[in-house]
Amino acid sequence: MLKKILLALLAILVLIQFFRPEQNISGDLTYDISKKYNIPEDVNQLLKVACNDCHSNNTVYPWYANVQPVAWWINDHIEDGKRHLNFSEFIHRPIAIQNHKLEETIEMVEDHEMPLESYTNFGLHAEANLSAEERNKIIAWAERQMQYLKDAYPADSLVMPKRK
Ligand code: HEC
Repeated sequence: MLKKILLALLAILVLIQFFRPEQNISGDLTYDISKKYNIPEDVNQLLKVACNDCHSNNTVYPWYANVQPVAWWINDHIEDGKRHLNFSEFIHRPIAIQNHKLEETIEMVEDHEMPLESYTNFGLHAEANLSAEERNKIIAWAERQMQYLKDAYPADSLVMPKRK
């Protein structure tokens, strides 16, 4: 009986390898955050190794992302992450939302809520284990971008519309 169950599980495991989510890879930079905001190379590098896998249209996939059911789990994070914040489509959003997302970026990085804990578990994505100095770099950058918006736009255009 146990052998049958194990064989059935094995068969399922083999079978699901044929069902993979579409990969999150696109070269379209039309609405990329870099088209409007100034991102120094060191900050860009930090966003690249610690954020962009889940918050852009370009994920760098590790080998285990090709193994099911891990691929589904990873894909879930990417879809969810992009729904909340997508640097590849950043400037497509209303200016108030851009401002708000910068503010949330500061909060998330400050409070160590991002990058997601599971991203760096087991020594994975070691570069995304941000030091205090690296966190401060991202925070200071986001603060500068908020200041830039404040200088460039009328105050009421930066306020998030109230939810009705
Ligand atoms: C492994 C995937 C992953 C990585 C890496 C990651 N995030 Fe996230 N992020 C998510 C997910 C999923 C959510 C939405 C759910 C949640 O808030 O936990 C999210 C939410 C956010 C939000 C909240 C947006 C909102 O609308 O509330 C911000 C801001 C954010 N992330 C910024 C960052 C920054 C900055 C980095 C890099 C330092 C980063 N994230 C790295 C997956 C990720």
